[in-house]
Amino acid sequence: MASDTAAMSDTDTDEGVRRRDWIHIAALSTAGVGAASVLIPLVSQMAPSADVLAASSTEVDVGAIQPGQSIKTTFRKQPLFVKRLTPEEIAEAKADDGANMRDPQTLAERTKEGNEDILVTMGVCTHLGCVPLGAAEGENKGEFGGYFCPCHGSHYDVAGRIRKGPAPLNLAVPEYSFKTDAVIRVG
Ligand code: FES
Repeated sequence: MASDTAAMSDTDTDEGVRRRDWIHIAALSTAGVGAASVLIPLVSQMAPSADVLAASSTEVDVGAIQPGQSIKTTFRKQPLFVKRLTPEEIAEAKADDGANMRDPQTLAERTKEGNEDILVTMGVCTHLGCVPLGAAEGENKGEFGGYFCPCHGSHYDVAGRIRKGPAPLNLAVPEYSFKTDAVIRVG
């Protein structure tokens, strides 16, 4: 009898829990619908205005960069490398276009038509985010003459393509366009 009572009270408790759960779920669903309806105007209010978008782009004067030189700047608070390739580096990058690469991309795919000497990449190693060397005078450019990440030994070639080491991807090329012959807008 005592065990029957115990069984009864267990069942009652289970049902009670189930009933409470159902009420809870129903309340959450109603709240979810309410939240969704207030979310739409909120999202449209949160869309960035034109001046915020403009502030998130960066203009870089590439006219003063000599062949073989790179500059380091920042884009959206992250390092950005802009490099002017020499004719030899362009030839080397093109000769390697068909090489067996981890993240295959041609030089043409990483630069703009008519400006294949200007290489714009993020200065962020695609392994764990260190800043690779090679943009400043005298820095180690790695085994492929581009950039070298000393954190775990990733080597990028003259087109910023990953050739050796743990990084899985090429240095990212951000969205950019030529505003004039000498000025690019990144972002
Ligand atoms: S962060 Fe560059 S190799 Fe690991």
